[in-house]
Amino acid sequence: MIRFENVSFGYSEKRPILNDLSFHIEKGDFVALIGANGAGKSTISRLVNGLLHPTKGHVYLNGKDTLKTPSSTLARDCGFLFQNPDRQICENTVKDEIAFSMKAQGWPSDLIADRTRAVLETFDLDPEWFPFSRSRGERQRIALASVLACEPGLLILDEPTTGLDYLECIRIMDHVTGLNQEKGVTVLMVSHDMELVQSYAKNVLVLNHGQILGQGPTNEMMKNVEVLKKARVLPAQIPELALRFGDEFKDVFTVEDMLAALRGRAGKGGAL
Ligand SMILES: Nc1ncnc2c1ncn2[C@@H]1O[C@H](COP(=O)(O)OP(=O)(O)O)[C@@H](O)[C@H]1O
Ligand SMILES: [Mg+2]
Repeated sequence: MIRFENVSFGYSEKRPILNDLSFHIEKGDFVALIGANGAGKSTISRLVNGLLHPTKGHVYLNGKDTLKTPSSTLARDCGFLFQNPDRQICENTVKDEIAFSMKAQGWPSDLIADRTRAVLETFDLDPEWFPFSRSRGERQRIALASVLACEPGLLILDEPTTGLDYLECIRIMDHVTGLNQEKGVTVLMVSHDMELVQSYAKNVLVLNHGQILGQGPTNEMMKNVEVLKKARVLPAQIPELALRFGDEFKDVFTVEDMLAALRGRAGKGGAL
């Protein structure tokens, strides 16, 4: 779905941000791109959808070279949720906001009306709301709804839960997970929240100073303390605690796993 081949990029010639980066993401995957602030995560996500172009190497989205494909074509394959919904929202009502991208992509008006209705219902949004006077969580939901209205095969989420409370966060992430599991939508989620990554991503790509430090299944990467440390990322609490308890806890990743393992140990007469 996404392929980076020897990609280098810098916003200016003097200061390279990405250096000879190669990786790929399979269709249907749910990948978290993690790393400290300034590691280059947002830059990578903007290279995927053609908002930025590599200075060396190639980025392929669904087999299309982003250097040779108009960004309007790439946008059909790739929905992009910005870190800040206010950079995305541009219309004065929720219904116009949701219809905006579909109109830009030339969808027929009856289909736009159908999709708008469906998405308003799914995300529990009032079509007449003025988006800018809604709460941060609601604005994020409006932005996500308008991205998903176009049914993209790839969804890029840049720090999707910044500024959201716990319930708003779960609501958005559960919806995204449903799309990934039931509709096979590929998800690339940029995040530095390891609890979120642990709960939702299937695979993790660790980035540091524009280089890939590691890529692998979430559970494996969560316990790769060396790589996480190098990337200046704090591991999620339960896997980290499990590591400290030793080998018997090697399969512990969630609170439920931890409780089962502790009960098992207590059952064997071991100390908690
Ligand atoms: N528009 C820009 N112009 C110049 N430098 C930028 C721009 N956007 C990001 N950078 C720089 O590129 C580096 C990587 O930034 P970014 O991709 O936003 O990192 P992350 O998303 O991992 O925090 C940082 O050093 C940042 O200051
Ligand atoms: Mg960023």
